[in-house]
This record gives sequence, C-alpha cells and structure tokens, in this order.
Amino acid sequence: DWTMAEFKATKIAEIREQVSDGKVICGLSGGVDSAVAAVLIHEAIGEQLTCVFVDHGLMRMNEAEQVVSLFRDHYNIPLVHCDVEEMFLSGLAGETDPEKKRKFIGKTFIDVFEEEARKIGGADFLAQGTLYPDVIESVSFTGGPSVTIKSHHNVGGLPERMNMQLVEPLRELFKDEVRALGVELGLPEAFVGRHPFPGPGLAIRIPGEVTKERCDILRKADAIYLEEIRNAGLYDAIWQAFAVLLPVKTVGVMGDGRTYDNVCGLRAVTSTDGMTADVYPFDASFLTATATRIVNEVQGINRVVYDYTSKPPGTIEWE
Ligand code: XMP
Repeated sequence: DWTMAEFKATKIAEIREQVSDGKVICGLSGGVDSAVAAVLIHEAIGEQLTCVFVDHGLMRMNEAEQVVSLFRDHYNIPLVHCDVEEMFLSGLAGETDPEKKRKFIGKTFIDVFEEEARKIGGADFLAQGTLYPDVIESVSFTGGPSVTIKSHHNVGGLPERMNMQLVEPLRELFKDEVRALGVELGLPEAFVGRHPFPGPGLAIRIPGEVTKERCDILRKADAIYLEEIRNAGLYDAIWQAFAVLLPVKTVGVMGDGRTYDNVCGLRAVTSTDGMTADVYPFDASFLTATATRIVNEVQGINRVVYDYTSKPPGTIEWE
C-alpha cells in the first residue's frame, strides 16, 4: 500500500545507494518507459547520468525529434543523440528471421552504449526502463517448459565483458504505474499517455527484410492511421495502435492502371498491461476511411487489412 510519491522517494534513495558516486548511462528508446527511468535517475543522481538516445532509424514519424526536445528543452537534461541508422540498417540487411532481427538490434544497442560510455571515460552502470511484464515474458518460468516468446531487447543482462551493472528502477511496475510515476515526475500528460513503442521499433513491424525504403513507407501509413485515430478522439481508448508492412504484394487497380504493391496491416488493441489484449472494435466506416487514405496517399501500398486477433493467441506485435 504505497503512493507514487512514496515509491518515487524510495526509488531515488535506492538508486543513490546503488550508484553511489558512479557514472550511469541511460539508453532512451523513444518510449515512455525509458524516459520515465531517465528522469527518475536524473532526479536521484543529476550529472552522474548521461542519457543516450539511440536513433536507429526505426522510429515512427517525428518521434526522434519529440524525444530530443523533451529532454533538452523541457527538462534541460543533457542528451547524446546518436545517429546510428546506417549501422542498424546495414546490419539488418538480408535478415528475415524475427529472433535474429531482435537479437541483432539488442546487441547493437549495447555496442552503441559501450561506445558512448567509452567517450565519457567509462560508465559503471547501464540504466534501462524494463517493466515487470518484460521480465516475465522474456524469462522462462521455473518449473514450466522453457519457452522464450520473444527476446525483449532490454532484458536478459549484459555481456560479461562489459563490466557494467544494470539499473532498472521500473522492474516492479506495470505500464499504468509507470505512467503515474511519469506524471509524479512532471512529464507532460501527452507524453506519458503515448502508446507503448517497442525498443526494436519498426523492425518488428516489417516482417521480412527491413530496408530504409520499407521503413519510410511504413512511417507514412502509420502516421495517417494515428492521425485518423486522434481525429476520431480514440487515441486514449486504445492501448496500442500501429501499422505493419507485410512482405506480400497484391494486385490492385488505380485510375486506369494495374498496381502491384505491398499490403499494410492495421493493429489496435486494448489492454491493461500488454500481457493479454483485445482487438479494438473500430466502426467499419473508420477502417474504410483510413484504408482509403493510406492507399491514396502512400506510394507502395495498395491494400489494407485489419488484424482481428486477440492476445493470446496472437502477440501484440507481429514479430
Ligand atoms: P507482444 O508483441 O509480446 O508485446 O505481445 C507486448 C508489449 O511489449 C512491447 N514489446 C516490446 N517492448 N522491447 C520493448 O521495450 C521489446 O523488445 C518489445 N517487444 C514487444 C509491445 O509493443 C507491447 O506493448
């Protein structure tokens, strides 16, 4: 029985005790969790914290700019903006296996942190916004069959050679609690209320090979979908909504020509913690209008489908 203010005070004390006078690097993914972790740790240890925003080129439209401006302008927390799109995209080239894509991205994040830590003369700790559901979905349950559903890139410890310890102040929290903590820390409501976004980003929303071109196509479709959701006043009623770009081409007709282009999937779910989820029941007119806009406005997509699978048996993300 505790309030968020008490939780915050307790965690700040714990972080100070764990870190002492050490240096901490915190990776920002663009999502709410890592932002809340960073602001909390900054309150605890101030300039011993270096925030690193790994801009892997797998963000949604304008997302990178929003995170950078939140930290630099709103909080005045120094932020290293690493533009590493080329490193991620070249490493992902040719890879189609979902677990290999996730593993590569997780490993490359660590490489970038290591490099940044080296630049500041070494860091003793790596901070992450790992939540409770990330912990349980990635760890095989004792006594049960050993099944990893997905390798969440921010769980699973660090390579031995790294010599850094983890700081994960949100490990006991569910998403709604992280949001409450974010509000307690003064994060803008609009930021805290943002839909979850996975660390591996658009790479796991592009089944098959990830390329810059496919990321650009997906970003456009996703932006239209979210704009329609906001215009309809539905954003806050939905846990997570996003577009997926399928590695499938289908035939269509536009004007008096034949088209042969990609299929875009739309996903929207309600949930309280991401561990189970229900399909969001849009009106047919909403989906029709959104599909029409996407096909008309996004070159490279000529068909839109809606995902009617709950979790379980589906997962929220497609990979
Ligand atoms: P799934 O697809 O497993 O997703 O049903 C459950 C929730 O977790 C998010 N997700 C991730 N978040 N790193 C993250 O930080 C990851 O690797 C990752 N994979 C999935 C997903 O967006 C959903 O909210």
